[in-house]
Amino acid sequence: MRRLTLAAAVLAVLFTHHAYAQDVPDAAPLSPPHWQSEGAFGSYDKAALQRGFLVYQTVCASCHSANALHYRDLDALGFDTAQIAAIASGVKLANGPATLDDSFKNPYPDPSAAAAAFGGAIPPDLSSFAASRPHGTRYIFDLLTGYAGAPGDVSQLPNHYFNTAFPGGQIEMPPPLKDNQVSYADGTKPTAAQEAADVAAFLTWAADPNLDSRKEIGLRATLFLIFLAFLAIATKRKIWREAV
Ligand code: HEC
Repeated sequence: MRRLTLAAAVLAVLFTHHAYAQDVPDAAPLSPPHWQSEGAFGSYDKAALQRGFLVYQTVCASCHSANALHYRDLDALGFDTAQIAAIASGVKLANGPATLDDSFKNPYPDPSAAAAAFGGAIPPDLSSFAASRPHGTRYIFDLLTGYAGAPGDVSQLPNHYFNTAFPGGQIEMPPPLKDNQVSYADGTKPTAAQEAADVAAFLTWAADPNLDSRKEIGLRATLFLIFLAFLAIATKRKIWREAV
């Protein structure tokens, strides 16, 4: 009887959607920055992703492409079809307004134009940047909040900005964020650090849009294997009890 109850409990957990998500504490994005997607049980915070998309679209998209993303992909962030259609139609491509099936606009289809604009540096495509290095989410946050006055012993290169997170310390990207650069529909205070945390969350989703379903499948598979292990032990015990 006890075994049956146990098996029923395991099955109940196995078939309860998002059973694990409830244990994730509410995201406190700042000081110290924390992303809900971090860790083995991490999942995306859609409100943060929507805010991060706003920052990307308002600020970063004028220099960076994100070719792997299509406007229709935004439904995964919780935007409805009308909102996505409005976002797409606000983007002007060479042949008219963007549609849901277009990839995110590339502001510099000709890389040499970007190189000319930024003294040789080309703004990288941001679709998978977060996955391109370890702790990519945090690196993006640190980079965006890492602008500072150059220490006295550093000679500043022309058209470069001192940044504590960028390898070598001098980057050709001008500081893109400041307080109140965007205004958030959900009432979150748009400090520069909040904007950086949100766009880092958005770019993490862009690089790994299937994280939620991947972790859910992993959890179910693990629970199923635990259930099978109990079953195997129970069967083994039963068989050997009868054999003795
Ligand atoms: C005015 C143009 C411009 C804007 C706006 C801009 N960037 Fe950049 N970004 C650049 C350039 C140019 C580089 C290349 C810098 C270099 O290699 O020195 C760059 C590089 C980067 C890198 C790569 C850094 C590395 O380690 O190689 C990341 C990440 C990045 N930008 C993120 C962002 C995000 C996020 C935003 C929006 C909040 C943004 N950028 C806004 C021009 C821009």
